[in-house]
Amino acid sequence: MGLEIKSVLVVDGVGPRCAEILNSHNIKVTTKAKITKEELLKEIPNHEALVVRSASQVTKEVLEAGTKLKVVGRAGAGVDNIDVEAAGAKGIGVINAPGANALSACELTCGLTLALARHIVPAAAALKDGRWERAQYTGTEVFGKTLAVLGLGRVGREVAVRMNAFGMKVLSYDPYVPVDAYGEDYGVRMELNEMWPLADYITLHMPLNDSTRNFVDAKVLKQCKKGVKIINVGRGGLIQERDLLDALQSGQVGGAALDVFEKEPPTDPLTLEIIKHPNVLASPHLGASTKEAQVRVGEEIAEQLVNLVKPGTYLTPLAEVTRILKKA
Ligand SMILES: NC(=O)c1ccc[n+]([C@@H]2O[C@H](COP(=O)([O-])OP(=O)(O)OC[C@H]3O[C@@H](n4cnc5c(N)ncnc54)[C@H](O)[C@@H]3O)[C@@H](O)[C@H]2O)c1
Repeated sequence: MGLEIKSVLVVDGVGPRCAEILNSHNIKVTTKAKITKEELLKEIPNHEALVVRSASQVTKEVLEAGTKLKVVGRAGAGVDNIDVEAAGAKGIGVINAPGANALSACELTCGLTLALARHIVPAAAALKDGRWERAQYTGTEVFGKTLAVLGLGRVGREVAVRMNAFGMKVLSYDPYVPVDAYGEDYGVRMELNEMWPLADYITLHMPLNDSTRNFVDAKVLKQCKKGVKIINVGRGGLIQERDLLDALQSGQVGGAALDVFEKEPPTDPLTLEIIKHPNVLASPHLGASTKEAQVRVGEEIAEQLVNLVKPGTYLTPLAEVTRILKKA
């Protein structure tokens, strides 16, 4: 016997394919594109499953209100907005759609890299403002430049392949992927201390956890070439913000493209100062925001829920999986 899921609450504007797939398997769906915390607390006791994107916070309070809740699905890569420990303690499973938006995040990364190299955004803004400014927006080619890819997961690997096609020298670092796993398909594997002085561009594609928080800090930036450019479509918190601002102001960092922030939307004065810096190109967490990815994440979560209903399915709470992995 699989999980008994009769009714699913789908919130945060998950695409209609999710509901279509669930409905076609006789699972009832209540869709609320936008939901307040109070509405969520009121609605959640009626459902065995909840599907969220990133807007709704699935806190301990929400999980406790979900008296019938068996599984929470995150239509996206991370599970940052779900209290995984609290879910585990209540035996509620947490699932996500990790691969569905990898290509979208990769393409944004590549776009930001080129935009930084060619000053596309400030140049376009100047022209819209009526200023024909050519000299100050002379850029650099990415051809022949060195790109350090940190994190060789679903997104990092795709970035490595595409930027290699632009003629960049791609270096990569990932302590959890064996050095001989992919040959040099995804860049030349290198230790960090060797990589920092060589990189013209650094792009971050690892998860945010205790070992990656503030991964790029003043100590790292000091080892880099003057004018190094940094792209973060991974997670806010991977770069130490105070150190980044200092390095932007001194010119040690020549440009940064940031799609993710420690707090979103950003309100901290330090983050806002970084965003306003002339050499910073910031986007409002758009990595997964493509039509294709939004369809894919909804489909992937719906298909996983349908599979869970099938006989013989057992769902290990994610908190338990995390504990097992930490012990290994
Ligand atoms: N901006 C967005 O909208 C957006 C979209 C998709 C993914 N993301 C984020 O991008 C990141 C990468 O996503 P993914 O789907 O490729 O994840 P993934 O799990 O497939 O890959 C992450 C990789 O990081 C590696 N890693 C872990 N710790 C590391 C460390 N200390 N140093 C170097 N590498 C390390 C892992 O071994 C893994 O290979 C995640 O943080 C994800 O949340 C953001």
